[in-house]
Amino acid sequence: MRDSYKREINYLRISVTDLCNLRCRYCMPEQGVEKFSHETILSVEEIAEIAGICAELGVNKVRLTGGEPLVRRGIIDICRRIAEIPGIRELCITTNGLLLTKYADDLRAAGVDRLNISIDTLQNEKYKELSRCSFSEHPVDDLFEGFEAAKKAGFENTKLNAVLIGGWNDDEITDFVELTKDNDYQIRFIELMPIGEAASWGKECFLPNETVLEKAPELKFIGESGVAKLYQKEGYKGTIGLISPVNHHFCSKCNRLRLTADGKLKACLHSKKETPIRGLHGEELKAAISKEISNKPENYDLGYENPSSSQRGMSQIGG
Ligand code: 5AD
Ligand code: SF4
Repeated sequence: MRDSYKREINYLRISVTDLCNLRCRYCMPEQGVEKFSHETILSVEEIAEIAGICAELGVNKVRLTGGEPLVRRGIIDICRRIAEIPGIRELCITTNGLLLTKYADDLRAAGVDRLNISIDTLQNEKYKELSRCSFSEHPVDDLFEGFEAAKKAGFENTKLNAVLIGGWNDDEITDFVELTKDNDYQIRFIELMPIGEAASWGKECFLPNETVLEKAPELKFIGESGVAKLYQKEGYKGTIGLISPVNHHFCSKCNRLRLTADGKLKACLHSKKETPIRGLHGEELKAAISKEISNKPENYDLGYENPSSSQRGMSQIGG
């Protein structure tokens, strides 16, 4: 259905857990966030019911996020239930990739169409530092193993997402670009947003995506894909996407609705407004969801001086 600004809301992002096996510095405090209790988290049934009603209202694409969605118990079940909802044409997952060697086949069999894998650095030591990863000595290698496992399982068009963080990975921009020379990777840089932990970070961490074009001026604009602007170096197999939530707001194109793991709807990632829908069923649930879509705000003027008003960090919304 359309919101009051005539945007067709057809994309539901579901955070299936607030838990994560990493503690990325921009996302989570070192000790983690106070986790939701088991009863607070929506059950597989509840998630499937809400997604089903959203589909009746015109949602045709669902993305599962977290925390890390693959640490959620019952994740395969959740995927299966959502994939079989009539009207859902695309089911995607955003993951840090570290559990993909274990789950790729099952996810594919459960009906997942596509994956996004987060990779903020290509260097194992830096990855460990940035994500406070303590269970692997070579997480970047694990991640690429997961990527390959996904390919073997039949996943195509897997995207690699890097949050651009001044002082952390801007020195790796050309390394990322060079990776697209012989590999048909789709690597996308996402501007760091002032939300959660990052909301209190210094200005130098927030780089506009134009930095990528300054460091790799040979990149040629080749078109748009959703909210990403796509670039490619001549003769290279892969592409580079730029997603700029801070310096080029895409609110006017926003087709998203979000569901948190504890059953709140969010029509805007950065608004503080959350609408609890747990306990509602049938027509009542449908009415609550359509009201939320109708009331979707026109925009949010996100910027360094005007950080997100969201009451939760990304680990509890999933981006
Ligand atoms: N700004 C931009 N992206 C973020 N993510 C988490 N926090 C932020 C932030 N402050 C990204 C993660 C992952 C996805 C789930 O959201 O890196 O790619
Ligand atoms: Fe986990 Fe993603 Fe947050 Fe990193 S950014 S701590 S992988 S949820």
